[in-house]
Amino acid sequence: MPPGPNQERASVAEVFVCAVDQLTTGVIRSAHLGHDDSGLPIMALVLRDNTGKVRAYRNLCRHLPVPLDGGTGDLLSEDGVHLVCGTHGATYRLSDGYCVEGPCEGLALHRLRCREEDGDLYVSVEPR
Ligand code: FES
Repeated sequence: MPPGPNQERASVAEVFVCAVDQLTTGVIRSAHLGHDDSGLPIMALVLRDNTGKVRAYRNLCRHLPVPLDGGTGDLLSEDGVHLVCGTHGATYRLSDGYCVEGPCEGLALHRLRCREEDGDLYVSVEPR
């Protein structure tokens, strides 16, 4: 029997991001997790929020299906507590990915799952 859409998602590999201690506040790491059902790449943004917790979000704006950073890696707000889309300025909280200002206010970035093991950090598509 061929795999259904959810089975395809589940087959996306978990990806090594970096050593946990290399992810300091203000650093944003990225990782490629394959493609979604629409053929769009699934790029992860992995970071520490302002409380020190590790967070991972899909690098895909909720306004239009484009990367938040346009591939530049430059998306942290000046105060260091938001991610800002470079296209139209949607502003997302680091702590939960919630859009607090901009054309998609009220929506949130897609969260991805992070796992730590032996000092290394891994990210994968969150199971649905
Ligand atoms: S595409 Fe991100 S705010 Fe419009």
